[in-house]
This record gives sequence, structure tokens and C-alpha cells, in this order.
Amino acid sequence: MFSKLATLALASSLCAGAIAQRTLEYDIPAEEALALSQLVNDEDDQVFSIQKGKEISPDYPLIYRVALPIPPIKQPKQIITNPVTGKDIWYYEIEEKLFQHQVFPNLLPATLVGYDGMTPGPSIIVPRGTESVVRFVNNAQRETSVHLHGSPSRAPFDGWAADTTNPGEYKDYYYPNFQSARLLWYHDHALGITAENAYFGLAGAYILTDPAEDVLGLPSGYGEFDIPIILAAKYYNQNGTLQSQLQEDTSTWGDIIHVNGQPWPFLDVQPRKYRFRVLNTGISRNYALYFARSTNTDGQLPFQVIASDSGLLDEPVTVDTLPSVTKSSSTSHNSPANKSSSATSQTSAGSAWTTTSRTRTK
Ligand SMILES: *[C@@H]1O[C@H](CO)[C@@H](O)[C@H](O)[C@H]1NC(C)=O
Ligand SMILES: *[C@@H]1O[C@H](CO)[C@@H](O)[C@H](O)[C@H]1NC(C)=O
Repeated sequence: MFSKLATLALASSLCAGAIAQRTLEYDIPAEEALALSQLVNDEDDQVFSIQKGKEISPDYPLIYRVALPIPPIKQPKQIITNPVTGKDIWYYEIEEKLFQHQVFPNLLPATLVGYDGMTPGPSIIVPRGTESVVRFVNNAQRETSVHLHGSPSRAPFDGWAADTTNPGEYKDYYYPNFQSARLLWYHDHALGITAENAYFGLAGAYILTDPAEDVLGLPSGYGEFDIPIILAAKYYNQNGTLQSQLQEDTSTWGDIIHVNGQPWPFLDVQPRKYRFRVLNTGISRNYALYFARSTNTDGQLPFQVIASDSGLLDEPVTVDTLPSVTKSSSTSHNSPANKSSSATSQTSAGSAWTTTSRTRTK
């Protein structure tokens, strides 16, 4: 309940462009008002102590020393024609399974769960107007349900929480793909264990392309000049295995920040424009993202936000950080930075921007 309300507060304030807790304008029964008054936020000192370096996980020794991995593009297994619409259907098969991932070089590998045995899962890239069917085969150990976040999927294919697929079973999901170009994502949504399943690796990008966007001359080429930045924040045990969050009852901030599955990677770039597509798959952590030169990490370089998870904006918006906050207000108590870093967000946003800066991902 808490996290849902906090998410709404965050989302509504982001839309309004000013961050303020939305006040309730409804007449509500006394018992509901009483229940609402019991809500507690994360303790600020708890949140800020993690950011200040009181860490749960072992120290990660290879910060900015491993190159950014790019999730592979999932190839359709077969292309069939929909006899009703006459459109192509791209048919995919994805296997949910356990895999070992050596996160810390000198510790035990972590046992994770991934689509096709990797995290993030392979990127599905579909042109607008092409329908798709994805068979998700559960060869993992827990129930799963797949939600394609942002897609107007009909109920049987929306991955509602109780619509679980047991280990040893599969389910076929149909997606219409009629929206304009945008970044969607698929992730687990199983009843009661959504967070744990997604945190253990069940999340991946789903990109809709559109000829109407292709003609705009944006930086293109998946993994070349059009780069996914898929964020996840996790806790590890001292032996290098992923720390389960099943007993957690407030939030999971995570102190090891992954991009495309790799903690704190680097990306060497050319002096030209890039498009980055940002997806936060984390359970609770929010980010203030910005670009800086490696020679001056305090300086924030301007960049352009061109899209959100609703597709292209009407026009690019030049900002210094994402979400966009002004420096003067980020130090005051009621600042956007403070609100956003103490709110719990269960959902995530896909965004995209271009920049001309030579930079490394942080
Ligand atoms: C790693 O550490 C965790 C937490 O202490 C423990 O539960 C787990 O059994 C350990 N794994 C191995 C393989 O030793
Ligand atoms: C956030 O708010 C707390 C009070 O709840 C305050 O102590 C802290 O300094 C604020 N942090 C920032 C970054 O403004």
C-alpha cells in the first residue's frame, strides 16, 4: 500500500514538473483516513546512510573497469501471417531458467534467474504494426507471470499477478505492437514474488520501432549509437551470492548498481551524438542521472531528453539531470531530489536522450 501511494505521488509530481506531495482532495471515511495516517516513509538516515557508503554488499573491485555489455537482440523463431489481420506475427520462444553469474571476481558466482538465462533478458525489437507472440517457457524454480510494461495487452496476455505459469509449463503471450516507437520492457509479475523474481533477473527491454521515427535521423543502430542503459540495484552476501529480499518489508535500495547486468561499467564513445534508452528495473532505488566529463565529474553536461515510455516527446527538452532538478533546490529539505530519493517506486520509466558529450556511464 505504501509503495503504491508513494509511486503515485512521485509520478504525479514528475508530470506536474514540480515535486510536491499530492494532497488528498477526496472525502474519505474516518477508518481510511486513520489507515493513511499510519503510513511511514523510509527513514531518511537509513536511505542516506546507504548513499554515504554504509554498505551491505562486499566492495566491488572493478568499478569502471569492465565494458558495458549489450543484451543480444532476440531473433524470432518463425514468422507467420495472422489470418484475421493479414499482418506478420513474429513468434519468439524465451526460456526462464537459472544461471550462474560471476559478479565479484574473487567470490562465489551468484545464481540468478533470467530470460534465456541472462539478465537483462535479450532485447526484443519489433517494428510497429508487426504482431508478436512470445512463448515464455518456465524452466526455473518458482512460478512466473510475464508483464509487458507499457503495452496495451488484452487481459489474458497482460501478465496479471495470479495468472502464473508453474515450473515445467509455458504460456504464449500475444502483443499487438500498434503503438508508436518507444521502449517497453518485459518483467516478471508473479503473485507475491514479483519483486524477488525481477530482482533475481527476470527483466528485459522490448523496443518498438516505427518507420515514422526512422526518418528523423536520430542516432541509430542498436548497441552502436542507440544504447540501452538498463539499471538494477542489488545486495550481495559476503560470499558473492545475491541476497534474497523475500523477508524485506519496506524497500530494496541495493548498493551495487548494475548497468545491463554489469556493476559500474564503462562505455568508450565516439565524439558524436548517441541515443541512450534508460530503463530502471530496480525495486526501490531512484536515480538522478547526468553526464560528466571524466576530467570533471562535478560538472553536469547538458543533454536532450527526446522520449519517455510514451514515445517521442513533442520536442526535445534540454536538461542537466534526469529527472530534471535545479541545483539550488536539490539542497533544500522539500526539494525534488529529496522527495524522489525517499519515495519508493515499483514501476520504472523508459526514456531516451541524445548527447554529443564524450562520456562514461555512471
Ligand atoms: C553464501 O552466504 C549466504 C549468506 O550468508 C548463505 O545463506 C549461503 O548459503 C552462502 N552460499 C554458499 C554457497 O556458501
Ligand atoms: C532531506 O530531508 C531530511 C529531513 O527529512 C533532511 O535532514 C535532509 O538534509 C534532506 N536531504 C536533502 C538532500 O535535502
